[in-house]
Order: sequence, then structure tokens, then C-alpha cells
Amino acid sequence: MSYPPEMQRSIDRVNASRAERVKQNVPRLSAEGKKALLESYHPDYRSSGMRAIRVGPNRGDRAVNEFVDILEAHPRLSPERIDLSQIDHDVDVLVIGGGGGGSTAALLAHDAGARVLLVNKLRHGDSNTIMAEGGIAAATEPDDTPMLHYLDTMGGGQYKNIPELVMTLVTEAPVVVEWLESLGVMFDKIPGTTSILTHTPGGHCRKRSHSCRDLTGLELMRVLRDQIRSRPIEVVEFRPAVELLLDEGGRCAGAVLLDLDTKQYVVVRAKTTILATGGMGRLHPQQFPTSNHYGATADGLVIAYRAGARLTDMDAVQYHPTGVAWPEQMLGLLITEALRAHNVQLANVDGARFINELETRDCVSSAIIRECTERGKGCATPTGMQGVWLDTPLVDQLGYPGKMEKQFTGIYKRFREYGIDCTREPILMFPTQHYQNGGLLTDGESRTNIPGLYAAGEVGGGVHGRNRLGANSLVDIFVFGRRAGLHAAHSAKEVQLGRLTLDHVLRHEEQLASAGIETDRTSPLVLPDYTRPETRFRRVG
Ligand code: FUM
Repeated sequence: MSYPPEMQRSIDRVNASRAERVKQNVPRLSAEGKKALLESYHPDYRSSGMRAIRVGPNRGDRAVNEFVDILEAHPRLSPERIDLSQIDHDVDVLVIGGGGGGSTAALLAHDAGARVLLVNKLRHGDSNTIMAEGGIAAATEPDDTPMLHYLDTMGGGQYKNIPELVMTLVTEAPVVVEWLESLGVMFDKIPGTTSILTHTPGGHCRKRSHSCRDLTGLELMRVLRDQIRSRPIEVVEFRPAVELLLDEGGRCAGAVLLDLDTKQYVVVRAKTTILATGGMGRLHPQQFPTSNHYGATADGLVIAYRAGARLTDMDAVQYHPTGVAWPEQMLGLLITEALRAHNVQLANVDGARFINELETRDCVSSAIIRECTERGKGCATPTGMQGVWLDTPLVDQLGYPGKMEKQFTGIYKRFREYGIDCTREPILMFPTQHYQNGGLLTDGESRTNIPGLYAAGEVGGGVHGRNRLGANSLVDIFVFGRRAGLHAAHSAKEVQLGRLTLDHVLRHEEQLASAGIETDRTSPLVLPDYTRPETRFRRVG
């Protein structure tokens, strides 16, 4: 498949402008310029996209509509149907979610002496981690320090991050990179040396992202899965958690799982529980496409909230600037920011630059939205999408022949499947929902406000403020996954659980009734719902 004629005419303009464009310096935004851009174009500022939550600990706080819909939904499980005296698994530490954060927590908890059960909604490793492309941030270069990483992370988060969490993140990041290498992760190396190759994602002032080509997450999960399998850690697949269990003292005491094969419920009693269930991309906030894994349906957030856990910043959603806009079959798929770190430029329908490509993601996305809406400078696709070009031929031209295929193998091959050679032609981009900046409020040990309940990775909130920097999520899952695993294992030694209950689920129903909420929805969703009309006919722009 080649590009349709109308798109080809725009590509001709991108090709024609390239030689001059690469010499052009597009200045960085001032603080005022950034604020104005975000307020006018970032989806977080569209008041129609948010509403106040009417039940639970964050009642009155605003969050994206699609998330509020499932927070205010009926439980899918009726507590009276569950016999809590029949315990199917009885463990020290239950880890819910086997992506990077959960697998790390399970390893550390096991190594600290706990009996661990790792449960997965789908297969072990099916997660956003395994799809990660760009890399993991850590101040490992001689001209870098954790303090510079701290300042960049706070600035990127619009200074709304919890400073103590950021401090922990940046100081432990170099340790995590060393730990991963010691487990066998094969990071890209400077040719002919044993030094890790680093690059500079948007908003970072130093080279600090450590990658494994554009398949970083795949390599990380390869190693983590091997590590889990080499230990006596019980791993359960195709059994999502559909409610948390509390004991009569209000402590988290495990979870009820749903066996996707038999449709039977499974009761897990655990002295401590770690949620590592990832984010909410598959809710398609504000009808955006998403780069997220099929399982990213916010289940962990929903069941923790029902049990009384507090949330933070659920009105701050990250739209990654470079999601695929064409071909349609790849809509929303992530195209790594590492390309822009390698000087690849963005260009509008006329082949002109319109933003410094290494601004933070919230700004680059806003600029693309401005280009495609107000300025009318997006390139239209035959199916009604708009997008701007990512000038991928620059990878080989500014690097060396064959660099695109070698360093960005995954992206190169995916486009080839649709007849697009991205070493010769640019590719069309539009922002794609990529990350939930907020989540369950946690402390430095990954503890939520519910005793015995921890959160690690994207399901947790507070560290990234209102906008996560690139490469900071992979470091987050390891720093806080390790902390959660260790703390949960140690504290499990002291725990005596009381009688198990699902009374909080009944209380949630009462709250829905007293808030006058009538809905046909049930949650957690477990799998995304693509049957509702607003999803089937969604339009982006
Ligand atoms: O662009 C990317 O590769 C994404 C990285 C991240 O979200 O950290």
C-alpha cells in the first residue's frame, strides 16, 4: 500500500522542505508560552471531558468522564454469592498484575522470604511494560546527577508531583539500571564498548534514557519472566481480580479472582496485597486512540477505590504526541519519542516545523492538536483522521544508512507490513492516550491509605504530577515495584488477619443509591468494551 494521492502531495512538500528544515532552530517555549498552549489545546483543559466523582473517598474531585463512568458502576460480583470460608489460595503476599511492576514486586517479596502468588488477568507479561519502546531514565552519565533528573521531573509534572516520591525515584534509578543489567537485560551499548548508550527524551536536560532498541519492554519482560520462573513463585493466568477483600478491621486481606475459563470465583487470602494493574488507556479517555495494552481497563483503580483507597490527579492524562494516524489498522500505536531524541522532526501538511520536538509531551501534543484543528495544517487521511508528519527518513540521513532498521526495528517492520518504508517516507502522527499521570495515592514505600494494600507502577499516583516525562515510567515500575515487594514481605510477617468481608462492596451499592446514580454499567470491566455507540462511532479531533 502506498499513500493515497492527497497524502502523497503533502509528503512531497515534506521531502522538499527537508534540507532547509534540518538547519532550522525552533526555540523552546517560555513558561508563559507553555501555559497558554496547554490551556488552549491540551485535552485536560476541556471541561466537557471531565466531571466530579459523586461517591467514595474522592467525592467532589474531577476525573475524566470515562473513568468516572466505571467508578460509579455496579460491582460485577454479588457478595452473597461468594463463600469466604472457602479459601482457594492462602499466601503472605498477593501480587495482582504481572507486568514490570508486579513481576518486580513478586521477585523482591519472594527473595525477602514471603510466600508469593502472582495473578494475571491474561498471560504473565501481557502489559504496557512489554510494549514499552523508548527506555528507562536514570542519571548514569558523568555530566548528570539525580538532582538534575529531579528538577526535570518536577518541571515536567508542572510542579504538582509529590517531591518525596520524585526524590526516591531519581536517587534509586541508577541502582535499578545496574540491577537490571545484573539480571541479564541487554541494554544498547556504545559500539565497541561495554558502556550503555543513552539518549535524551523530551523534557530531560541530559542523555539519560537506557534502551534496548525500540523493544525495551520486550527485553525487560523476557528477563523478568525468566527470573520469576527460576523461583518457586506461583503464577496464575487468566484470573483477573474483580474485588479486593478486607478483614473486619479494614485491612486489605487479598482478593476475589474471576477464572476466565470456568467463570468461577477464586478466593485468595493474603496478609499483604500489591496492586500492579497498570492504567486506563482502554477506556479511551475523551475518545482518543490509545497506545495501551488490551488489558488496560483500570480494574485495579476501581476495586481499590471501592475498598476505600484514595486517588490523586485522575484529571491528568498523558496523550503521547506520536501515535499512528495512518494506516488505520495501526491507529494509536506508539511511535517512540526516542526518534525525536535522534533529531527526527515533526512537520505539518506543508512540510513546516511548528514546535521544538523535545518539549515535554503535554506541549508537543497540544501543538499537534493546534496544528490539526485551529490552524488547519494537519494532513487528512481518507478515513477522516488528521495528523502531522514524523520525518523518519532523517534517522538514516542524519545517522548512517540502515540505522532506522537497526535501532528502530519494531517500528520499521510494522510499517513495512503495510507497504510503508519509513526510511524513505515520513509517517503520519496524532496524539494517542499513553499514560494516566495520576492513580492511587501512595507513600514512599508504595503503601496506599488502606493497611496492607500497596500500589506499584502506573496504578499508583503522585510521582509524575500532571505530566510524566518520557522514560520515567519504566524507572517508576522498578523503583516502586522493588519497594512494594520488600515492604509487603516484611510487614506480612507481623500480620494477623481477621474475618474476611466484602461489606465495602455492599456499601458502594448504597452510596450509588444515595447519590441517585442510575446506570447499566458494571465494573471492573476486565476487558475493554467496544460495543457501546460512543466507542463505535468515536471521532477524534
Ligand atoms: O516514546 C516512548 O518510547 C515512550 C516512553 C515512555 O512512555 O516512557
